[in-house]
Amino acid sequence: MSVRRSSVQELLRSQELEREVVVKGWVRTRRGNKYVQFIAVNDGSGFNSIQVVANAEQFPEEQLKADGVENGAAVAVRGQLVASQGKGQTVEIQATEITVLGKADPTEYPLQKKGHSLEFLREIAHLRPRTNTFGAVLRIRHAMAFAVHQFFNDQGFFYVHTPIITGSDAEGAGQMFRVTTLPEQNPPLTEDKSAVDYKQDFFGKQTNLTVSGQLEGEIAALALGKVYTFGPTFRAENSNTARHLAEFWMIEPEVAFNDLQDNMDLAEDFLRYLVRYALENCQDDLKFLNEQYDKELLGRLQFVVDNDFQRLNYTEAVGILKSAKQKFEFPVDWGTDLQSEHERYLVEKHFKKPVILINYPKDIKAFYMKLNDDNQTVRAMDVLFPGIGEIIGGSEREESLEKLTKRMAEMNVPEHELWWYLELRKYGTAPHSGFGLGFERLVLFVTGMANIRDVIPFPRFPKSAEF
Ligand code: 4AD
Ligand code: MG
Repeated sequence: MSVRRSSVQELLRSQELEREVVVKGWVRTRRGNKYVQFIAVNDGSGFNSIQVVANAEQFPEEQLKADGVENGAAVAVRGQLVASQGKGQTVEIQATEITVLGKADPTEYPLQKKGHSLEFLREIAHLRPRTNTFGAVLRIRHAMAFAVHQFFNDQGFFYVHTPIITGSDAEGAGQMFRVTTLPEQNPPLTEDKSAVDYKQDFFGKQTNLTVSGQLEGEIAALALGKVYTFGPTFRAENSNTARHLAEFWMIEPEVAFNDLQDNMDLAEDFLRYLVRYALENCQDDLKFLNEQYDKELLGRLQFVVDNDFQRLNYTEAVGILKSAKQKFEFPVDWGTDLQSEHERYLVEKHFKKPVILINYPKDIKAFYMKLNDDNQTVRAMDVLFPGIGEIIGGSEREESLEKLTKRMAEMNVPEHELWWYLELRKYGTAPHSGFGLGFERLVLFVTGMANIRDVIPFPRFPKSAEF
């Protein structure tokens, strides 16, 4: 009778011993002596590998080498699942059959046992998922995506799919990648030859990759009540930092009838839920990352779960920063945007906990944010995290047609591009709020990795689109 293939994780958890099993995976290490060889096989199903014991009578070392049972090779193993005699694992496989499915020449295979720098691994993004570090990061990334859907589904939110190609600039910040099928050489021109004639382009207008699904999310919220998007977003900002990507994933909930307080409560509940989910469901991977890279990781995650976030006005934050003893590279003045050094001072030095900053000056925030009665500030909300800075940006939205058109005019946001957005205010407008969580910044926080390029499989940043 043929035995069904098991995953390594299933076998490591199994109580059912003394039975024939089959696993397939990649050799992580092979070591031993002339009597017995130990082969660690990992199939990606979890952090830990399973130990395969190959007795020299049946599997002489020279034969294993000749067959290619080496670090990196893909193998199929059949054998008995037995209690392990050795330390470090409870079960192991006593091999009866080892088949090499795909060799990896040990003199060439780029992943050597000695371990590699994260910079080097970025250059081999096609192989780095096979390392302990990236296996852990990718599994945690999956767990976080799953938890996002779980959280919202449990709370009665609907997942809406917003477009990736759009004709508008949702943030009004002009950081868009163009989408066009017009020829590079001699594109069609308008009648007076002054400009490219986008009427002849694929969509009959200028289009770009979306910078945010928010505006379409608002459409859905003003019909379905509680919605969220979770999709790729694109920003052509020339930021070569450890916190920015040109292509990143964003989660954007939007809720009809929520005000700024409700929005803060949602953001806080959401983040705390996600971090708790990681602590409860990603223990092996987190333990490894904690030991390998950042001994304070687990403590920091637990702290976020256990403590309320500090909420305060932008104006108060500026006061704190102005009287800080620390010297900043960039000056702090009311009306200017906070730099990440300022954000991190508030979070890491002053309050020593996550901070939600609200009511920012209107001139440094997007056109859609609700104007406060002071006419100077808007109901914006940024959530700032230790080691990260801004992890969430959001706001209560301007629901008044009159005020919104006035803000758009002041900020040079073209009304004709957003006629449909304005009609939401004309027909059954209602207070509503939402925010965007940068998914990679979340994964950065939860894994304790230092560079955002190491928490997405194939990072996109200036001068880099390999793989
Ligand atoms: O603050 P942002 O620009 O807000 C928006 O896009 C709103 N439309 C969201 C909303 O209200 N629905 O971006 C939201 C979050 C940031 O807080 C940050 O975590 C992340 O997206 N983010 C980036 N992450 C990686 N690379 C970049 N270049 C990012 N830009 C923003
Ligand atoms: Mg922001």
